[in-house]
Amino acid sequence: MKIGTRSKSTSMGKGQFSGKVALVTGGGSGIGRSASLLFARDGARVAVADINDSGSEETVRMVEQSGGKAFVVHADVSKAADVEAMVRATVKRFGRLDFAFNNAGIGGKGVTTVEHTEEDFDRTIAINVKGVWLGMKYEIPQMLEQGGGAIVNTSSIRGVGAFPRLAAYVASKHAVLGLTKVAALEYGKLGIRVNAVCPGVTVTPANERFWAQSPREKEDRIKIQPVGRFGQPDEIAAAAVWLCSDKASYVNGHGMIVDGGFVAK
Ligand SMILES: NC(=O)c1ccc[n+]([C@@H]2O[C@H](COP(=O)([O-])OP(=O)(O)OC[C@H]3O[C@@H](n4cnc5c(N)ncnc54)[C@H](O)[C@@H]3O)[C@@H](O)[C@H]2O)c1
Repeated sequence: MKIGTRSKSTSMGKGQFSGKVALVTGGGSGIGRSASLLFARDGARVAVADINDSGSEETVRMVEQSGGKAFVVHADVSKAADVEAMVRATVKRFGRLDFAFNNAGIGGKGVTTVEHTEEDFDRTIAINVKGVWLGMKYEIPQMLEQGGGAIVNTSSIRGVGAFPRLAAYVASKHAVLGLTKVAALEYGKLGIRVNAVCPGVTVTPANERFWAQSPREKEDRIKIQPVGRFGQPDEIAAAAVWLCSDKASYVNGHGMIVDGGFVAK
């Protein structure tokens, strides 16, 4: 297949997650929605967590339409009580928790380091960093009780390199990789693998809204992509799902870059 083109999506080997339960934060949109669909396609039951309930409801509807099982959990990942309740609700509904994709995140303001307000900085860190830590804080004890599990956190190519006018976001995504590595070292021997995905620019609703206002910016960005296009949510989700699978049984503490080669430049 020519680089830069994509084959039609294929079945990922039905049932590899049969009997398993996955929790996806930010499941109401973009990468989280695609991951919910892919976990379900492989047989997992899925808890779709988000602050955007109508987005989550749509994801659940799509999972059910494709023959899977899912339910909506309203949770703000920056709030400990919500995250604790999210894990409890998942276990109450589906009996266990095998995989967690701590993926909810925001972009933060596109301003210089000096221009960032304290409020924006704190909000970005609260959702992108504290949200991932809280996820693991409540997911890991449940997984330990069951004898193991796999966690994937969403970082970014901005977690391995900087970009001007994005201080809070860049800091938050570097921190996600730090949290991922620490947890991987702490819980590897206890049967829990912890990894991260680092997406490049991906075609999600927020980006599409932005590009609708700045089509020139979109064209310029595409030109600098080594494969001549942006990523699709299911291409990022596929990496997260693979990291959860037994095929990745020796992968731990890794930040998998899925960016069409962008950071290789
Ligand atoms: N799209 C990209 O180009 C790109 C690139 C690199 C990394 N990422 C990361 O991928 C992840 C998913 O983003 P996406 O691109 O699918 O964007 P998206 O906006 O489509 O989805 C993010 C979801 O997270 C939810 N969310 C936001 N704040 C929340 C909170 N406090 N609690 C619970 N849910 C919350 C939103 O409601 C939304 O449904 C994010 O962590 C983002 O930083 C995206």
